[in-house]
Amino acid sequence: MAHKVKLNESNSTRVSAEDLHRQLSMIFQAVETPENHADIAAKVLVSASVRGVDTHGVSQVIGYSEAIESGFFTVPQETTVITESETTALLSAGNGIGLVSAYEGMEIAIRKAQEYGLGMVSIRDGHHVGMVAYYAMMALEHDMIGMSMTTATPSVRPALGAKKMLGTNPIGFAAPAGAERDFVLDMATSTVAGGKVGLARRLGVNIPEGWALTTEGKPLTEPEEENDRWALNPLGNTREQGSHKGYGLAMMVDILCGVLSGGGFSRQLARGENMTCLMAVDIGRFRDIDDFKAMMDDMIGQLHSTPTLPGEEGVLVAGDPEAEATEDRLVNGVPVENGNYAGIKARALEVGTEVVI
Ligand SMILES: NC(=O)c1ccc[n+]([C@@H]2O[C@H](COP(=O)([O-])OP(=O)(O)OC[C@H]3O[C@@H](n4cnc5c(N)ncnc54)[C@H](O)[C@@H]3O)[C@@H](O)[C@H]2O)c1
Repeated sequence: MAHKVKLNESNSTRVSAEDLHRQLSMIFQAVETPENHADIAAKVLVSASVRGVDTHGVSQVIGYSEAIESGFFTVPQETTVITESETTALLSAGNGIGLVSAYEGMEIAIRKAQEYGLGMVSIRDGHHVGMVAYYAMMALEHDMIGMSMTTATPSVRPALGAKKMLGTNPIGFAAPAGAERDFVLDMATSTVAGGKVGLARRLGVNIPEGWALTTEGKPLTEPEEENDRWALNPLGNTREQGSHKGYGLAMMVDILCGVLSGGGFSRQLARGENMTCLMAVDIGRFRDIDDFKAMMDDMIGQLHSTPTLPGEEGVLVAGDPEAEATEDRLVNGVPVENGNYAGIKARALEVGTEVVI
């Protein structure tokens, strides 16, 4: 079967970003999330869908609102400082909605960077934070470099290993450019984010070889439910192609998020628990911001003009695919996978709020 793990006009319905935001915020509020936190959660999820990161977008409102109702996520929540210095803070997310604590954590990192040039926070007692790029990108409007990382429960094998030991532990990094698009790298340290296997399963399509391996070391192409008979590959996939590097990066994320915060590394997390690390760096403390951006433009321009391999249309820079999705989706509406579209509407009715999408 061809590799078509993406949304198209036949498997999704387009909805405006504004309506999605309203609907999501209403669902969060209907399960007792305070309005300001409901709006933050809606903003982060809609942003993921707008940027084409559909696996971490609006459909998450269903599971998150269920987690709130069951008491797994605590609302109203409070992000509290356990210990801090001028440039660092250890925070507790208070077992609330991960999107809200990461957003508030990044606000703290940015405030520290405004005052002292650098801000770094590590957050424990947290839950799923979704698309990590969101928090790194919050630094851009302050002319800062932003970094964001998070852990997850194990779904990835270590290099040479046959068992899930690490989360997909993504890394986000955003740096502002001038005339060019900002650089926004947002990558799982596995070959792909786990959500893409779930999406393939729902769309009834195979996954490419290289995403996952069975415990016998055979490539998995027909996506299975979560079980112990297969694992996602670390970035690099094989020994020859550098799987030890993706594995090393995943451990780095576990150290900065889970060990540094004391919240626990991937293997120690309960399902749905995620620890997070965020950083903000004030560029102006290093050099003139316009000079920085001009050099970014030069670098990005040179990369864009790299001669391509035969059959390729052009060389991209991290953030380009998501910026293109944003340009399309803000004008033409955000595609929501049909099953999720029905699911969000059903969830709105279930929690006793109006359907507005
Ligand atoms: N919260 C969690 O537990 C969790 C876990 C894993 C992943 N995620 C999220 O899942 C999402 C998807 O992750 P992924 O690793 O599958 O992303 P991906 O492989 O789709 O993209 C990774 C990065 O590569 C860039 N990119 C894509 N094509 C490119 C090209 N040709 N040239 C240059 N750059 C290019 C993208 O802009 C992006 O920054 C991310 O938003 C991530 O934060 C979240």
